[in-house]
Amino acid sequence: MNTQLIIPLDFRDIIQAKYLIEELGDLVTWYKVGKQMFTRYGPPIIQYLKSKKKKVFLDLKFHDIPNTVAMAINSSIDLGVDMTNVHAVGGSDMMTAALKIKQERESTIVLIAVTVLTSMSESNLNEIGCGGMDIAEQVKKLAILTKKSGLDGVVASAHELSLISDNCGPEFIKIIPGIRPEGFSNDDQKRIMTPEEASRKGAQFIVVGRPITQSKTPITVVTSILDEIKKSSSKISGL
Ligand code: C5P
Repeated sequence: MNTQLIIPLDFRDIIQAKYLIEELGDLVTWYKVGKQMFTRYGPPIIQYLKSKKKKVFLDLKFHDIPNTVAMAINSSIDLGVDMTNVHAVGGSDMMTAALKIKQERESTIVLIAVTVLTSMSESNLNEIGCGGMDIAEQVKKLAILTKKSGLDGVVASAHELSLISDNCGPEFIKIIPGIRPEGFSNDDQKRIMTPEEASRKGAQFIVVGRPITQSKTPITVVTSILDEIKKSSSKISGL
């Protein structure tokens, strides 16, 4: 499978989001709706995307008791969302409850877990009782737990791509934010990777926000990202 591009709709105003979606047309299939947009606009933003035949990643990072998370997944399925996520630190009971409702509903929703937020440092891990472990170890442990719980994959930073593939297999989905095409500002992302490199290292999805959402020429940026992805896949397949 070629790496897919996901654009996060990180806007204050739904009008800007709709403008971008219209402008990009068939070039882009996947959009991510996060807490900012969903809290302000709610289900209508999802319904709008579905009316445009788009795939939706609802990024609300559920973390609660198993029954509550299962019911949130149930509601996400009702909304027609294609992918959603939970925090792996909610544990295996919570994740298997999420999986169970997906199976009961015979849904194809893709269930992803967040391992360690990229904003967390080792001292932050210490603060919450996960001291003595480096971040990579914690990511590996939570990715393995996610896989054992039957979920489809994880959100990971670019430099964790190989670690996760090595421990959970190449098919286990890796969604990689912090992606910057050559020549773009890092913004506040500390460890970045190009679309070509992430694709070559086996990312099934890359999330690219500001280089596209803040651009005056988003079509040009998206086209060059898609070209990079294509080039890396042809390198892999030897074409
Ligand atoms: O603008 P930029 O490309 O940095 O946006 C990346 C998107 O991915 C944002 O929506 C951000 O919240 C999200 N994200 C991230 N790092 C993570 C998880 C999610 O940047 N570890």
